[in-house]
Amino acid sequence: MVLLAAAICTKNGRCIISRQFVEMTRSRIEGLLAAFPKLMNTGNQHTFVETESVRYVYQPLEKMYMVLITTKNSNILEDLETLRLFSRVIPEYCRVIDETDIQEHAFDLIFAFDEVVALGYRESVNLAQIRTFTEMDSHEEKVFMAVRKSQEDETKAAMKRKAKELQQMRRDQHRGGRMGGMGSYGGGMSSMKMGGEIAQTLPPEPVKSKVIPSRHRTTGKAMKLGAKSKDVDNFVDKLISEGETVRSGSAKSKKSDVAKTVVPSALTESVHIRLEEKLSITAGRDGDLEQMTLLGICMLRVSDDQFGCIKVQMANALDKGCTIQTPPTVDKKAFLANSMIGLKSADKPFPTKQDVGILKWRLQSSDESLIPLTINCWPNDNGSGGCDVNIEYELQQDELELVDVAISIPVPSGVGAPNVSEVDGDFKHDSRKNILEWCLPVINSSNTTGSMEFSIPGSPDDFFPINVSFHATKRLFTGIEVGHVEFAQGGSPVKFSTETALLVDKYEIV
Ligand SMILES: *[C@@H]1O[C@H](CO)[C@@H](O)[C@H](O)[C@H]1NC(C)=O
Ligand SMILES: *[C@@H]1O[C@H](CO)[C@@H](O)[C@H](O)[C@H]1NC(C)=O
Ligand SMILES: *[C@@H]1O[C@H](CO)[C@@H](O)[C@H](O)[C@H]1NC(C)=O
Ligand SMILES: *[C@@H]1O[C@H](CO)[C@@H](O)[C@H](O)[C@H]1NC(C)=O
Ligand SMILES: *[C@@H]1O[C@H](CO)[C@@H](O)[C@H](O)[C@H]1NC(C)=O
Repeated sequence: MVLLAAAICTKNGRCIISRQFVEMTRSRIEGLLAAFPKLMNTGNQHTFVETESVRYVYQPLEKMYMVLITTKNSNILEDLETLRLFSRVIPEYCRVIDETDIQEHAFDLIFAFDEVVALGYRESVNLAQIRTFTEMDSHEEKVFMAVRKSQEDETKAAMKRKAKELQQMRRDQHRGGRMGGMGSYGGGMSSMKMGGEIAQTLPPEPVKSKVIPSRHRTTGKAMKLGAKSKDVDNFVDKLISEGETVRSGSAKSKKSDVAKTVVPSALTESVHIRLEEKLSITAGRDGDLEQMTLLGICMLRVSDDQFGCIKVQMANALDKGCTIQTPPTVDKKAFLANSMIGLKSADKPFPTKQDVGILKWRLQSSDESLIPLTINCWPNDNGSGGCDVNIEYELQQDELELVDVAISIPVPSGVGAPNVSEVDGDFKHDSRKNILEWCLPVINSSNTTGSMEFSIPGSPDDFFPINVSFHATKRLFTGIEVGHVEFAQGGSPVKFSTETALLVDKYEIV
């Protein structure tokens, strides 16, 4: 599913908190929420409504609604399942589910919402991994503080300017200058509270409805401003104890792809590092990129205690414009200075015999030139009820080698098989699902383009949305990789193994 935002709003659609998972302006989300109650038929038992562009999946919570805003092509059953998870987070933090309580716990909730989504990001996560993530440092807190500081500074400066103007005016008056409009200035003055009181009235009201874009993923500890996020652990414990497997937020995360990219344990060293990136792309049929999101993670697994105290040197990690996070236990300065991931205290070991997240990154873009594999599909109406379809791919990032590429094109039903006149690679027609699947075992720099032509009765709109899947194991999209591993003390080299997986979570041409 494509989750756009998760929000709690009042019955008349006023936003109390909202977390956006795609870039969206504050006014857009407030507008969507304001429109939502008007779409509902009171008294009916439905739990979702749709508009031209979005779907709202909702659940009443006393005097409010928990609302997920998704795209319309997402799977409604999955949406409802996800909604249930979100709704269950709320009583974990709020005793009385009212506006004040929710505002008071806004950051806890937003953080927990992120965890629900982050849990969905990997197909299965263990508690240790979640702990690692929940303790990560928050970039967003810093942004929030910086914005608030600059707002305060601006207000102060404006106040000072006004005070000066007023003084000047009084002086002018004393000199006998005739000033117009003194009355209104006087009024302004009293409401402005001059002199010593200014400072107290300065900090702008804390934002009432907390609308925070999730470009930089918020994490628990930081957004809780100091408190350790026990509650989140409890929540996760509960989920796990109930045997709930939190499934991926996306409809098409392919278990099989993950399996294919996992290195058998017989081939791994005592220090093993898995680098994984997941791509999510929505492109238009005219070649425009609506949204591309790349999530990356680096997991360290030390299976022998004698290799606990190590440092991992990354390559290509800092120059790709990604938002990067390291856990707070990691010395971030050293990482920013020379891409070296090590614990702050050199004599402390990494946890052993478990996967530990040591780096996460995220890249979001609408720059077409970043799409690794472009698909160009041209259906032409042949004028007598049929279509000639010409479809091409091109590998744009030719340092990548894409494996098991499958391009799935919907075709009209009940009109027989498409007549494929030309094809690079293979194709399969699934007459039950009405899909023409174009299969290319390998696409790399030796052979970056290919095409297929077929004709079938139908109209040009029949051939969308097209789904694309592939994986790559030689290199990540960002090129991030492990340089070397060394002992934290002494710096002698440590033998290690790595595995790399670039996966497609979703690639759709709509
Ligand atoms: C158009 O396509 C239909 C279906 O594929 C076919 O039966 C018909 O002969 C085609 N017409 C022309 C002019 O190519
Ligand atoms: C593309 O993926 C969506 C979501 O899983 C699915 O509903 C649709 O049938 C797929 N289309 C094709 C042509 O494979
Ligand atoms: C498929 O297309 C080719 C060329 O367009 C044509 O010669 C052939 O008769 C078609 N076959 C069928 C089964 O329609
Ligand atoms: C390029 O790849 C396609 C699909 O695998 C294949 O059919 C074609 O023969 C290749 N071309 C060259 C020049 O290798
Ligand atoms: C591309 O893939 C083909 C088929 O697997 C392989 O023979 C060729 O060496 C590859 N080219 C490069 C540059 O890796």
